[in-house]
Amino acid sequence: MNANLVALLYLVSGVLFILALRGLSNPETARRGNQYGMIGMAIAIGVTLTLLSFNPMIIGLIAGGALIGGGAGVVIARRIPMTAMPQLVAAFHSLVGLAAVLVAAAAFLSPEAFGIADAAGQIKAISRVEMALGAAIGAITFSGSVIAFAKLNGNMSGAPILLPFRHVINIAIALAMTGLTVAFVLSDGAASGGGHLLWYITALAFLIGFLLIIPIGGADMPVVVSMLNSYSGWAAAALGFTLENTALLITGALVGSSGAILSYIMCKGMNRSFISVILGGFGGDTAAASGETETRPVKQGSADDAAFIMKNAGRVIIVPGYGMAVAQAQHALKELADVLKEEGVDVAYAIHPVAGRMPGHMNVLLAEANVPYDEVFELEDINSEFSNADVAFVIGANDVTNPAAEDDPSSPIYGMPVLKVWNAKTVFFIKRSLGSGYAGVENPLFFRDNTMMLLGDAKKMAEEIVKAL
Ligand code: TAP
Repeated sequence: MNANLVALLYLVSGVLFILALRGLSNPETARRGNQYGMIGMAIAIGVTLTLLSFNPMIIGLIAGGALIGGGAGVVIARRIPMTAMPQLVAAFHSLVGLAAVLVAAAAFLSPEAFGIADAAGQIKAISRVEMALGAAIGAITFSGSVIAFAKLNGNMSGAPILLPFRHVINIAIALAMTGLTVAFVLSDGAASGGGHLLWYITALAFLIGFLLIIPIGGADMPVVVSMLNSYSGWAAAALGFTLENTALLITGALVGSSGAILSYIMCKGMNRSFISVILGGFGGDTAAASGETETRPVKQGSADDAAFIMKNAGRVIIVPGYGMAVAQAQHALKELADVLKEEGVDVAYAIHPVAGRMPGHMNVLLAEANVPYDEVFELEDINSEFSNADVAFVIGANDVTNPAAEDDPSSPIYGMPVLKVWNAKTVFFIKRSLGSGYAGVENPLFFRDNTMMLLGDAKKMAEEIVKAL
């Protein structure tokens, strides 16, 4: 295919990826966004395939890989529950990281095939820079993502593992990697000569990826996943340079920058600095934190109590959280809201930017249950409305409503913007116990006079309230 046409088609796929990201920023346009992304990817892959010289062995390998990988993708996507999405994303990022390392290794071992050898058959210096960067970022992404997966999937404790002198160790490794990279770039780059330094760089990068992620606690893990997403993008972009592939370069840069922006948005939503997330040590083992017993008295209510109060309310604001996702209570919740609306109650949904376990988690579930978009409001648009509401109906949310974030400077979540549900006349909490949420922090709201705890599974309780209504 003509080089200009290739460049043009890669540009078209790049534009489609940008439109995909734009579409994904809103639930109403997300489906269209996904379609743009798929078309863009089909064009990019199709054009890349035309660049290959026809060789049945290569075509067979590519077709086999696409079938196995694509088939596994379809099966996983169909089976994965929404609650396991963060660890799935972490697992996928590990593959992107590994792919980056493998491509860098392949380019190193076979520079002629990749067109990066100079007249003397040695790898060009600039390619050595790109290769070292691609391998290092890819290796960090791989081992970091594997740890993030294990922590999110419960294969290892979510609690931060704090090694003594970890910052000193990390700085020493980073310095060693920098020194080795400089030596590799200045070397002849031959596999038999200074080229072997690439393997040391890669090994140290695997190690630092592991060391960087183990001290990070469960509560910060979604930020880490998004950060690793960003790294995987930069690894791909570095490879885009090595392979002189514009589509890979554009895609890598888009993934890298959007992952970085997402990490920033999440940090802002939790009022945590990016640096403090990276330094680790925040957040306990959530499994242990949840379900703890508390001895102070609380007002406990039944589905009938909730139905009575809500039926007579003028305005109900629903606050969904992670527990709604676990219980898959979104459909029962929508039914509850519909019944309330029939009774003349004004219903709105308040979404905290970090409710659930990933950005947009609640929006996706509510959209799945066909909740009208105009009833769903972001924190800044609805927070002042709680004082006009009769009921704040908190279903499976906890940390995102914790007033300690506003009035307890000693709380680990102090400073995080929260939904001020306590300003409503009555606050209902549907959850199974008085246990804490992801951050492992007790919620003093449970013990307030205007709070009624509806203890039970979110879906079951919502269904019982519908029945009672
Ligand atoms: P959480 O504070 O984690 O609270 C969820 C609550 O749901 C738990 O206290 C749990 O209480 C309850 N629950 C679990 N299963 C349930 C079920 N089947 N039925 C009813 N309730 C159930 O959730 P949140 O308020 O959504 O806050 C999100 C947390 O994740 C924040 O700490 C946030 O910083 C963190 N985080 C989120 C993100 C993103 S992007 N969303 C990113 C980073 C960090 P019981 O065990 O008593 O039932």
